Amino acid sequence: MLHVEWARIIFGADLGTDREPIPMPESNETKNNKNPAAAARGSELASDFTVSVHYDQRLYYEDIAGSIIHALMLGRQGIIPAEDTDKIVDGLGKIRDEIEAGDFEWNSELEDIHMNVESRLYEMIGDAAGRLHTARSRNDQVATDTRMWTQTACSRAFEAAVSLQTALVELAEKHVETIVPGYTHMQRGQPVVLAHHLMAYFEMFDRDAARFARVADSADVMPLGSGAMAGVPYPIDREWVAEQLEFSEISRNSMDAVSDRDFIVEFLAAASLAMAHLSRLAEELIIWSSEEFGFIRLTDEFTSGSSIMPQKRNPDFAELVRGKTGRVYGSLMALLTTIKGLPLTYNRDLQEDKEGLFDAADTVITSLETAAGMISGMTVNAGRMRQAAENSFVLATDFADYLVGKGVPFREAHIAVSDLSKRCIDAGKGFDELTLEDFRSASELFDEGVMEITLESAVAARDVPGGTAPDRVRAAITDAKQMLAEYE
Ligand code: ARG
Repeated sequence: MLHVEWARIIFGADLGTDREPIPMPESNETKNNKNPAAAARGSELASDFTVSVHYDQRLYYEDIAGSIIHALMLGRQGIIPAEDTDKIVDGLGKIRDEIEAGDFEWNSELEDIHMNVESRLYEMIGDAAGRLHTARSRNDQVATDTRMWTQTACSRAFEAAVSLQTALVELAEKHVETIVPGYTHMQRGQPVVLAHHLMAYFEMFDRDAARFARVADSADVMPLGSGAMAGVPYPIDREWVAEQLEFSEISRNSMDAVSDRDFIVEFLAAASLAMAHLSRLAEELIIWSSEEFGFIRLTDEFTSGSSIMPQKRNPDFAELVRGKTGRVYGSLMALLTTIKGLPLTYNRDLQEDKEGLFDAADTVITSLETAAGMISGMTVNAGRMRQAAENSFVLATDFADYLVGKGVPFREAHIAVSDLSKRCIDAGKGFDELTLEDFRSASELFDEGVMEITLESAVAARDVPGGTAPDRVRAAITDAKQMLAEYE
């Protein structure tokens, strides 16, 4: 038990602590450019091809945590001597400190994070280091590390989605009465309140947050104990290891455990959908901030000037959020393709899982944070929004609905109002300039009541669950705030 305490002191109880990514070391390619003799050697090139330490060093925290707990378990079970466990755990803690201080010398000849750590352990504690890899293989080790890393990434993505939801709700609260045209086919369709439009995105990111939480559950299965693929011939305690590493379950089949990367595909799929939603939002911010629309103004922080056109305020951040969607989809396709047709069990192809995972996690988290920043800072030009609704035919449906109220079948009412709007367009008039006589020339069933239809009455009339009536939207915001408070 003492050992467990030790591990907790070294690592803290929460293995999912936020960490800064470590700066990438000089790649082998650059090194070899400086050393033409090495670059010319075939074997050197072959080893360059297999090296992954320049990116899988991002697993250092999970790798060392997994090794400490594994070593403690080996000691508890009497598989290795207690003194060796002590030396191993102590050495691993120091290695983690070295890595975090930037003092660790990464060596690409040692290929990956696992070999780099183990080799350093040898330098530090000598032969005892050789006992760490008892009852373990890099195959179950890397699967465990990646599962832990993915769980942390899910919780960070979840938090980022929630912070964007919070920004959306806060802005929505201020615009429950702000009228804006709602669009279909990018044509002004019906009036809505801006809060309703914003809350549509709240819903999308709510599903994304829930998806990341479900992916964390998928990743929450511990492979250690699977060994290379068949299990290990030692009296190990998998449940204890899982508990220490905060996994809720252990894998049920060793062959599956070392070769399954479904959880990464799920992460990439969740990230892809979040990026799809983000790119829709980004696109709206780009359109809305154009001079043609002028609905919003993004803060300076999220726009940049042009090197030749001094008047420009380019929405670069929104464009990059939209643009980065492609690389996340790319990582999803890449991994799906990599795992297709792989025979059981571990194959080196699986090493290709990590760069896409890391890149997608970085991209989706920073994009969610960027979107939250843009939403919280932007200025809404409610006047421009209203003007766009007024100078349009967005009340057409309401006029048709008025006739329906007088007993006209909707299809007929639709034809009457469609004629009316055609006549307006020909005469260069807006609906607001129509007299009761104009209405009656389209249908005799129109009476004074039609003159009372306004943008406000139109939104208020959509008083159904999920509709844009301000009271409904207010209630949706209250529910949303309640949900966010529960996430806290
Ligand atoms: N770097 C490897 C990976 O990411 C670790 C596992 C290597 N296993 C092996 N049998 N070569 O997949």
